[in-house]
Amino acid sequence: WDNGLAKTPPMGWNSWNIFHENINETQIKQIADAMVSSGMKDAGYIYLNLDDNWMANPARDSNGFLISDPKRFPSGIKALADYVHAKGLKLGIYGDRGTMTCANVPQSGSKGYEDRDAKTFASWGIDYLKYDNCNIPNGSDMKTDYQKMQTALANCGRPIVFSICAWEYQNWMPATGNVWRTTRDIVDKWDATGHPYGFVGIINSIDQNSKYTNSAGPGAWNDPDMLEIGNGGCTTEEYRTQMSMWCMMASPLLAGNDIRNMTQATKDILMNREVIAVNQDPAGKQGYRVKSSNGNEVWVKPLADGTKAVALLNRNSSTSTIAVNWSDIGITGSAVVRDLWAKADKGTFNGSYSASVPSHGTVVLKISSGPVATPTPAQTPTPAPTPV
Ligand code: GLA
Repeated sequence: WDNGLAKTPPMGWNSWNIFHENINETQIKQIADAMVSSGMKDAGYIYLNLDDNWMANPARDSNGFLISDPKRFPSGIKALADYVHAKGLKLGIYGDRGTMTCANVPQSGSKGYEDRDAKTFASWGIDYLKYDNCNIPNGSDMKTDYQKMQTALANCGRPIVFSICAWEYQNWMPATGNVWRTTRDIVDKWDATGHPYGFVGIINSIDQNSKYTNSAGPGAWNDPDMLEIGNGGCTTEEYRTQMSMWCMMASPLLAGNDIRNMTQATKDILMNREVIAVNQDPAGKQGYRVKSSNGNEVWVKPLADGTKAVALLNRNSSTSTIAVNWSDIGITGSAVVRDLWAKADKGTFNGSYSASVPSHGTVVLKISSGPVATPTPAQTPTPAPTPV
């Protein structure tokens, strides 16, 4: 949606993957504090997004206005937004196009209340709306419902990023939302094939999200769901793959772990500035697979400065050596290679470069052909741009 927002993929944190329905004001304020003290904010993670179950039960007052849970959010959402804004962060909230959200809180859906709810969110100081797709009355049309909320947001008097949570790409979504889900819910696993609800693991999400490469661009991003990095169900290599591939695919980067308590390994993955810069590249191109053989893959993402980000992804259960040929990524002659996880310049290579990639791991390279611009972002890491 060309509303001037999300010119680069949104970055932030969302409550669902770690806390599910158990959210409250004290804990969310601690998360806001931790976003600053951990360095996440400086790395570009700006949105602090409440997911389902922030609302009272039932969710509306006697005049039909949405209200927050008086026990868990006693100061109200406006006060929380003030707190979050004072830290230089932005506050996101969650709603639904049907009669109730996916947590089935009575009256929590915005069906028929789109204008009123958008104005309520604006009056609270909300900056991001994730709008879900549960409890849909018969006869509702998905596109019409999402467009209603889009219009309501456009008229609410406040810039609010619009996130469509509908589990499957449809061709009207890029003109309607700033991000849209391309997958069912992520689970904290490498491969969740066979999940009873079709929920997906990291590798399944990559495969599904990659189908819609050409739909992404500034203001409109494919969303393979939130990050599980740091939640414990995957190996460090697998989490590094999630970060690598979400960055290669220009996906929203919404951390989903308890950032009040992060190991150094989790911090190193979530806050690698050079890998984040691939995600936040102003050209806004979604990277794509150029080669796949025996579970070894080469992906490329063309960057605004003419260089290429390349990912070498190993889906196998043992270490592989993976080569990127310059002919696969549109480069001729010699090229300079930097390894963004190793934070190391590898030198100048003719025709190809290969690296050893651990099982389920990903190596991310920045490859510059011809005369190297000075200074290149790779050699002088710039802070990730602040998403708007
Ligand atoms: C759906 C969404 C999730 C989360 C839950 C909340 O399943 O896809 O991301 O928001 O609802 O109930």
